[in-house]
Amino acid sequence: MHESAFSTALLRWFAQYGRELPWRGISDPYGIWVSEVILQQTRIEQGRDYWLRFMDRFPTVEALATATEDEVLRLWQGLGYYSRARNMHAAARQIVEQGGFPQTIEGLRALKGVGDYTAAAVGSMAFNLPAAAVDGNVYRVLARHFGIDVPINTAQGKHTFQALASELLPEGKASAFNQAMMDFGATWCTPKSPRCLDCPVADTCDALHTGRTGLLPVKEKKLTVKERHLTYIYVRHQGMTALRRRPAGDIWQGLWEPLLIENGDLPQWETPLKLVASNVKHVLTHRVLLADFFLAEPTRRPGLPPGYIWVKESQVGEYALPRLVEKLLSLL
Ligand code: ADE
Repeated sequence: MHESAFSTALLRWFAQYGRELPWRGISDPYGIWVSEVILQQTRIEQGRDYWLRFMDRFPTVEALATATEDEVLRLWQGLGYYSRARNMHAAARQIVEQGGFPQTIEGLRALKGVGDYTAAAVGSMAFNLPAAAVDGNVYRVLARHFGIDVPINTAQGKHTFQALASELLPEGKASAFNQAMMDFGATWCTPKSPRCLDCPVADTCDALHTGRTGLLPVKEKKLTVKERHLTYIYVRHQGMTALRRRPAGDIWQGLWEPLLIENGDLPQWETPLKLVASNVKHVLTHRVLLADFFLAEPTRRPGLPPGYIWVKESQVGEYALPRLVEKLLSLL
């Protein structure tokens, strides 16, 4: 049968070329879960260091559950998509309350921040549950190999690819198969220059035979992302600077930032503001941010808008900052 030949070939490929990752070969569901959450939006090379540090600081789900959110965010700093860290922290508390890790797909799926992909990944790798984990790599491999042009970012696409991946799962080998598909997509069947010449499943690849590797997978065009303009002012007065914690219901909830003017006029200071950088671009999932960055060095301590506090400049590093803000501060 076509399908099982495909799975067998990929498992054989994986045994030879699978990547060595620090969380491979562990069976601790907590460590596996942490790795999957980190890798949701982070490249493997960067994720590896974060995982090692995270596991060092929070070696067990109990350790994570008893940490403060600030501590967790600090460790997450630089990874972006901070709701991942907040959800993971909340889920750790759920797990401890339940008396341990859920061992079913439904139980995993009920944890905060855990969707179909993460539930299948953790379930298959930690508990050998027969669940197909479909990430971006898997979409690409399947779309090309089976010549499927249903857009992957539609409900129909998700359903089609999930069903196909589930069909392909070899009995008792979900963990290896899921990871084989991900590694194969990440290192062989890559977006721009797939290694078709030494591809183990080239013989049966539809995209290769119809000249469509560059056209698959298909993604439906979404409306262009909105731009958002931020003006930050770094206030420097006698070794102190002003920060505030970002409120709920917006990007970067719980992280800290300097004086922010959004869609407003610059304040009138007794000393002129120095422009440090303008139009610094920072791309988030649903937004493009454009930031201007000023330095203010008033001779008298200015009053601050509500919510801001004075912080020693030498202690700014102890606050969890959005990556954009880190980038701006490094320009000072
Ligand atoms: N990306 C996310 N999780 C992964 C895993 N377990 N193996 C390879 N790539 C991944």
